[in-house]
Amino acid sequence: PATSSANERITSLTFTPVAKATADVLTVAAGYTARPIYALGDPLAAGLPAFKNDGTDTNLDQRAGDHHDGMAFFPLSAAGLPSGTANDRGLLAVNHEATTDETLSSFFLHANGGTMTLPRPAAEVDKEVAIHGLSVVEVRRTNGQWAYQQASNFNRRITPLTEADITGPARGHDLLVTKYSLDGTVTRGTINNCGAGNSPWGTYLSGEENWFGYFTRSSTDDAARGDQSVVALNRYGRTQGQASRHGWETGGVADQYARWNISKTGSSPDGSDDYRNEMNGMGYVVELDPYSPTSRLKKRSALGRFAHESAVFSLPKAGQKLAVYMGCDSRNEYIYKFVTDATWSDADANPTDRLATGAKYLDQGKLYVAVFKADGTGEWKELSVANIPASYTTYTFADQGDVCVNARLAADAMGATKMDRPEWCSVHPVTGEVYFTLTNNSNRRASTTLTGSQVNVDAANPRAYTDIKGAATSQQGNVNGHILRLKEGLGDSTATTFTWDVYLFGAEAGAAPGLINLSNLTSDQDFSSPDGLWFSPKTGICWIQTDDGAYTDTTNCMMLAGIPGQVGDGGSKTLNYGTVSVTTYAGKAPAADKLKRFLVGPKDCEITGICETPDGRTMFVNIQHPGESTKAADVADPSKYTSQWPANAGYGAGLRPRSATIVITKNDGGVIGS
Ligand code: FEO
Ligand code: CA
Ligand code: CA
Ligand code: CA
Repeated sequence: PATSSANERITSLTFTPVAKATADVLTVAAGYTARPIYALGDPLAAGLPAFKNDGTDTNLDQRAGDHHDGMAFFPLSAAGLPSGTANDRGLLAVNHEATTDETLSSFFLHANGGTMTLPRPAAEVDKEVAIHGLSVVEVRRTNGQWAYQQASNFNRRITPLTEADITGPARGHDLLVTKYSLDGTVTRGTINNCGAGNSPWGTYLSGEENWFGYFTRSSTDDAARGDQSVVALNRYGRTQGQASRHGWETGGVADQYARWNISKTGSSPDGSDDYRNEMNGMGYVVELDPYSPTSRLKKRSALGRFAHESAVFSLPKAGQKLAVYMGCDSRNEYIYKFVTDATWSDADANPTDRLATGAKYLDQGKLYVAVFKADGTGEWKELSVANIPASYTTYTFADQGDVCVNARLAADAMGATKMDRPEWCSVHPVTGEVYFTLTNNSNRRASTTLTGSQVNVDAANPRAYTDIKGAATSQQGNVNGHILRLKEGLGDSTATTFTWDVYLFGAEAGAAPGLINLSNLTSDQDFSSPDGLWFSPKTGICWIQTDDGAYTDTTNCMMLAGIPGQVGDGGSKTLNYGTVSVTTYAGKAPAADKLKRFLVGPKDCEITGICETPDGRTMFVNIQHPGESTKAADVADPSKYTSQWPANAGYGAGLRPRSATIVITKNDGGVIGS
């Protein structure tokens, strides 16, 4: 295929949309080919045997991890050097978020399904730890066929045991002191890496999302601590007595197991004799240089600690500061941005030391949180000790390092807007407008009597009714999610005000247009629970990926192509719930050629992670956890697996379902989406 460095913007989608489907098949639009090339367990070193996929495989820390998620492509020239224009060879940096599990055990990893009670055997824990983290894998096109390169020297695995540097305001902070790091400058590994991004200087950014779930605290830990760390732990998802997801802390007395128990067990005042502070080493945007296989992992604390998804830059402009946009994906959590102190220099686009460049931009700057207002405007509130109102007495911040480590608390203090689970964000390559998926929120209500964690509808999160195909009668929250976008005010990246609207409301095509299907989606366009979101720099297409559990009676998760307009191209809409009504701002309803379903995945999967070669002619997409609702008790009976993908697509041994990267090409060699 021809290579072009010029943009090939697509302004009208001409491919035939893919129908919703529930078969255990991956379907892509006619005229395109999609096939798996890199699945859980694939060997990443010369001489390692192929994955048997029966629970007996070894050396999992030298194989592809599980639950492929966010991902980016790093081009390599034929000579193996970084090259922004290479289209036949490159590195994929891949997040391996989690594992398919039931009652502690990642059952597909173990021959007999593993141990579902405590204590967990060390040998099982070691395998489960090893398939979390990141991978870097070389891919090449030879004679027209893409394949991953098992013996490439670039291949690398990062696991929860790989040492990482804490950088930025939290480096060396008291809150980071552990038995492993007496000076609070390092920690081990990265975990639950979900969304991703890539920097303008050629590195990979990975968001640590549901890391708190891997830790446990004793039922008497609050009293043992007796300090305000209890407030922070409760705010970050670990109340005393909570069990860990896999029970890894029971694998043995060795330090690598003990670290997952964050109870105060030592007597030192600073946490240097136990792992009470260990969880403060997780929850960051992690920077990796995929081109340098021996480089260290950097946890950029200035960007705040929360349940990170993607981290996406404003369009770099010489002499101006860069903004990094980020979401915190939990119900009722916030949207953030970081603004660099350093101004962008085009000379940094291809630096000799990429991680030093990362330190230049990502270790000093200002962190903000978003407030969305009813009039369609919004405000960025800076998170700093000086800004915390005197009226906020829940937690006392020692310094900016404390603000970064406990960014959620600082954002609470600043009155941030509680959102419907911010997932990925992406920046429109022409307008610079910032798009955020808000995947869903079962706690959203339109009510005068809220209970527990319920929150009322507001302009930016206006839906509370469940989608029941046309009849809106019961409130189960925002079931289908929406995609919000914002346009920065004066100063672009450094603006402290913005305007916003909702690009799309997820909905079933037949749902009530006044309360649910506000974007008038047709059956070629309808979707639920948007999660992955990525603009192709080449074509300008907005790719939307779903992680849904609401519409799965009708369709497996999917990927759609959108050609959005801009903030304000629709108008206001008022949703009347009876006792409560709310006015929102909905973008223009998409015409048939402006939003189309491009791909439907196999059963029980999430579609997530996306990148392209610079020419836009090869796309990589991740298929996460096909068959995830299979029961552990059925591990020996493949007929009971809810998916047998990718084996049933001709990829690899064994019938146990595997997360995998697929490669998509257009049969006529054109750009993806044309
Ligand atoms: Fe791992 Fe928020 O999805
Ligand atoms: Ca996600
Ligand atoms: Ca999700
Ligand atoms: Ca998932």
